[in-house]
Amino acid sequence: MIVTEPFNAVGNTPLILLREPKLEQISLFQKCENFNPTGSVKDRASFHVLNKGLERGIINPNTTIIESSSGNFGISLSSYCRKMNLKCEIVIDPDILAVNEYLITSQASKVIKVTERDEGGGYLLTRIGLVRSLIENNSSYYWTCQYGNPLVAEAYYESLGSEICDDLAVDYVFLGVSSGGTITGVSQRVKERYPNAAVVAVDVEGSVVFGGRPHKRKIPGIGSSKRPEILSEARIDDVVVVGELDTICACRTYTKRHGTLIGGSSGSVYLAVHKYFQGKTFLKKPNVAVVFADSGERYTSTVYNDEWVAENFETEKKELASRVAEFWMN
Ligand SMILES: Cc1ncc(COP(=O)(O)O)c(C=O)c1O
Repeated sequence: MIVTEPFNAVGNTPLILLREPKLEQISLFQKCENFNPTGSVKDRASFHVLNKGLERGIINPNTTIIESSSGNFGISLSSYCRKMNLKCEIVIDPDILAVNEYLITSQASKVIKVTERDEGGGYLLTRIGLVRSLIENNSSYYWTCQYGNPLVAEAYYESLGSEICDDLAVDYVFLGVSSGGTITGVSQRVKERYPNAAVVAVDVEGSVVFGGRPHKRKIPGIGSSKRPEILSEARIDDVVVVGELDTICACRTYTKRHGTLIGGSSGSVYLAVHKYFQGKTFLKKPNVAVVFADSGERYTSTVYNDEWVAENFETEKKELASRVAEFWMN
């Protein structure tokens, strides 16, 4: 396949039939979103929001795109803006991973790092507050606002949701949730095409998205300290909440079994699907799709780093290895 414009090669990511020894009662399919141009599911939102925004006159070549993100959306949006000659400002915070900061800084027109913690002890509300104050005084800004922009959900409805439904008669689909756009769009499409399918949201302990008690979380890309407005349009049947240390063990188990590194939220989804189907039997194997939002290479200083795990979870290397082995066996 010859691609003349790599940034248009968004979507149509592989759907892999995953052979899982403990999940023989289901047919499990992994949607590999790391195959998108900047390495994550967020390319679908960036591509769609910017192109539809220009097409519908919501933005123009003089617009400055602004977003609060220390993760995949910031990386993706700043790259797409640069390709499309649009100015782009990204608001980040001190918890950003060095690799993400490098990627965003290398692409965005401007990067603003907030330093003040919000009332929950994190930075999300400070970042959003700053974006609000900037756009209030300057009409040339367009805030892509991943927590509430219907164009973001539309991106996933039209591309990711459609691709999964075209390839598979879906019985279940599992997605990690953070700002909520992915599950909102995908769930709408899946329910439209397969009304009896179940949409399962995956969240982590410490996130408030599904009403959990807030506490500091360490793994980026999953969970949130605010409930995303966009989720009111999502069609979710079940929620599985997993622990962060268990997620780390799941990431490492996946790597041992399947030979590639997966991102933190993918590990949460991988773990959730095991918990959900443990002990369940079926007359006919259901088709289960799991969306893996990114790959693990950007997590080698965290999820795959024993020192980081020991520091953040008070778990020694030996204990971690035995937890991974336990996950592997059970
Ligand atoms: C790695 C990863 N997984 C999952 C998600 C969840 O997607 P959403 O923000 O649409 O809920 C994100 C969002 O940034 C992500 O970066």
